[in-house]
Amino acid sequence: MKPAILVARAIFPEVVTRLSSHFDIEANQDDQAWPADEFGRRLQGKQGLFCSANERISADLIVACPQLKVIANMAVGFNNIDVDAATRAGIMVTNTPDVLNETTADFAWALLMAAARRVGESERWLRAGQWERWRYDTFLGADLHGATLGILGMGRIGQAIARRSRGFDMQVLYHNRTRLPVDLEAGANGAQYVEKDELLRRADHLVLVLPYSAATHHAIGAAELALMKPTAVLVNIARGGIVDDVSLIAALRERRIAAAGLDVFENEPAFNPDFLTLDNAVLTPHIGSASVPTRLAMAACAADNLIAGLSGQRPPNLLNP
Ligand code: DGY
Repeated sequence: MKPAILVARAIFPEVVTRLSSHFDIEANQDDQAWPADEFGRRLQGKQGLFCSANERISADLIVACPQLKVIANMAVGFNNIDVDAATRAGIMVTNTPDVLNETTADFAWALLMAAARRVGESERWLRAGQWERWRYDTFLGADLHGATLGILGMGRIGQAIARRSRGFDMQVLYHNRTRLPVDLEAGANGAQYVEKDELLRRADHLVLVLPYSAATHHAIGAAELALMKPTAVLVNIARGGIVDDVSLIAALRERRIAAAGLDVFENEPAFNPDFLTLDNAVLTPHIGSASVPTRLAMAACAADNLIAGLSGQRPPNLLNP
C-alpha cells in the first residue's frame, strides 16, 4: 500500500502526477487554503505533508498527527513550522533552499528599482490620465548607481543580491549573525561587514533578507527606521514580521524614509490597510520566487524531499538537527 500524503495547496499538475506514482494523495485543488481545523482533520492519518510557507504547523498540530513522518515545505523559509516540536515527535522537516536564490535576488532588485524610481506611483498616475505635460520635477527619484547598498542578512540570497550590485557600481555593506569568510565577501561585490546600526546609518538603500524567528521579530522598528537616511529605500523580501508595520507606515507617511518595496507582510495574505494609502510603498503579494522555472524547481525539490523521506532515505534538505 502506498503511503498517504496531504498536498495542502494547489501545485503544478505534473508534480501532483509524480507524487501520485509514489503516494496515495489527497490534494487541495482549490485556490483557497483549508481553514485550520479542516486542515488538521485532513492531515489525520497522513504520513507526509507537502505544504507552503502559509500553512502553520504548530506543536499542537504535530502532536495531533502521530502518523506524520515528513513535512516538505515548498519554501526556503520555515518559520511556519515548529521544527523543534517536529524533531521531538520524530518527524522530518525539509525546505527548498538554493533553487530560488537567483530569482529572489532578481525580484529584490525589481522592488528596489521600482521604489527608488517611483515606477508604481507614476504608472498609476499615467493610467489615471493625469499626464498633461513634461515637467522637470515629475516623479524625481533616487539613483541606485554609485549608491551604497545595505543588506541585512547575508545568506545565499543576500549574496546573490550583492553580486548584482556590481553592474550598478555600488558599494555593499552588510550585517549578519556571523561575518562571511573573506572569499564570499569578495564574491559578493566586496561586501563589507558592519554592525547593524552602522548599516542603517550608512546605507543609501537597505534590503532585508534575514530569516524570521523570535530573535528577528520586528528587527526593523521605530528606532532602526530613525537611523536610516531620509532618502533611503527599504526593501523586504524576507518575512513580514521582521518589520514593525506601524512604525514603517509612520516613517513612510512622514517621509522619514523615501520609499519601501514590500513583498511580504506580517499576517499575509492580510496586511495593514494603511499601506494602501501610501504612494511611496510598492506592494507585491509574496512573489519573490515566482518565476516559472523557479517555482517548478521548488515544487520538484519539495517532492524529492518527500519521496526520499517516506522511502526511508535521508531527504536532501533535512532541517532537523
Ligand atoms: C520562501 O521560499 O521562503 C519564499 O518566501 C516563498 O515562500
